[in-house]
Amino acid sequence: MALDRKAPNDLNAFWMPFTANRQFKKNPRMFVGAKDMHYTTSDGRQVLDGTAGLWCCNAGHCRPKITEAIQRQAAELDYAPAFQMGHPVAFELANRIIEIAPNGIEHVFYTNSGSESVETALKLAIAYHRARGEGTRTRLIGRERGYHGVNFGGISVGGIVNNRRMFGSLLGGVDHLPHTHLPGQNAWTRGMPEHGANLADELERIVALHGAETIAAVIVEPVAGSTGVLIPPKGYLQRLREITRKHGILLIFDEVITGFGRLGAPFAAQYFDVLPDMMTTAKGLTNGVIPMGAVLTTGAVHDAFMQGPEHVIELFHGYTYSGNPIASAAGIATLETYKEEGLFERAAEIAPYWEDALHSLKGLPHVIDIRNLGLIGAVELDPIAGEPTKRAFNAFLSAYDRNILIRTTGDIIAMSPPLMISKAQIDTLIGTLADVLKKLD
Ligand SMILES: Cc1ncc(COP(=O)(O)O)c(C=O)c1O
Repeated sequence: MALDRKAPNDLNAFWMPFTANRQFKKNPRMFVGAKDMHYTTSDGRQVLDGTAGLWCCNAGHCRPKITEAIQRQAAELDYAPAFQMGHPVAFELANRIIEIAPNGIEHVFYTNSGSESVETALKLAIAYHRARGEGTRTRLIGRERGYHGVNFGGISVGGIVNNRRMFGSLLGGVDHLPHTHLPGQNAWTRGMPEHGANLADELERIVALHGAETIAAVIVEPVAGSTGVLIPPKGYLQRLREITRKHGILLIFDEVITGFGRLGAPFAAQYFDVLPDMMTTAKGLTNGVIPMGAVLTTGAVHDAFMQGPEHVIELFHGYTYSGNPIASAAGIATLETYKEEGLFERAAEIAPYWEDALHSLKGLPHVIDIRNLGLIGAVELDPIAGEPTKRAFNAFLSAYDRNILIRTTGDIIAMSPPLMISKAQIDTLIGTLADVLKKLD
């Protein structure tokens, strides 16, 4: 029986993720097509994508090279076992990733999502120290307001209360740095805020409390996205790097949203000129088209495992779909699309225009802060008293009715358009958002 995909007649079976299911199912919002900067809705409208899907379609939608690569690969080699067997496409993609990664990053461990990349990196950190004879280093340090996906390691080091409070006691042996949001000092900052580098020094307090020899790793998002876009204060990431290095603690950058051009450089590590020991990635790796993630490591992290008899597996970790051929082919075609179209450079070029457009919203009703970096932007709204998140959610609904896709988290509107966005499309996105804000209760 042919499925009428434009008009599902029963929405009950699908329990939707991170969604107000009952609200949605009363008044569904369905996308049935996409091309470049736009989605097509089931009622035939063109919606401008202000969020690159979920921060992942950095090259825009339904890009021919990626589509063709997937089709070709599916017909040629659909699947190869990921353990004890290989196929050339995964090796090729790993080399291509390393080509654009910061100097010093030399290895790629494949996963299927950002959450799995985070779990993998946390496990690698603990196992790395053990492999080097420092098995007491098991403690993991995250940060308040951090988002590292939804698995147990990720929510344990993460700092978003709604993502944690329902799920029991989480991992033990975890501490959190303070978040870096200082609205009193940094509100309305364009780009990186002046104040807050000293917040990295809190790591010294955590080290003093537990002893450096108990701490495996610190994980942070270079730019915190899901919590509502927090840009790192000037000097903060450098300071974290100094302190972690001094105490032999690994530094993990969660680059799931900052990777693949979002800041106008391949990775945030290059943008901020700070080299972590590991980087977690996903999303833009395959332009969001096929699930795939990757943990990128330095030579030192990888080499610590390469010991013992050669026939013995060095790391007891991996996924059935690690380096899946079709995902790998999508990854290669995605990286080629970024390169051929100069999309990272384009993001850097258009970022000042994006910044000006965003900050033109200052003074509109309910707007209490605006933040931006690269092609990331956030507009923070004053919450409705007693009804947190409602104002921003109403803005999201009204924006959708006016044919723009934005994203909200708490009472913050977050935007991260595909890197191919034009100035005229920025005008449409921000102009429409201005209209939405003017009419918002
Ligand atoms: C920084 C960061 N880490 C991890 C994740 C989780 O990725 P996924 O949803 O692919 O598991 C996300 C998703 O938004 C993210 O922004």
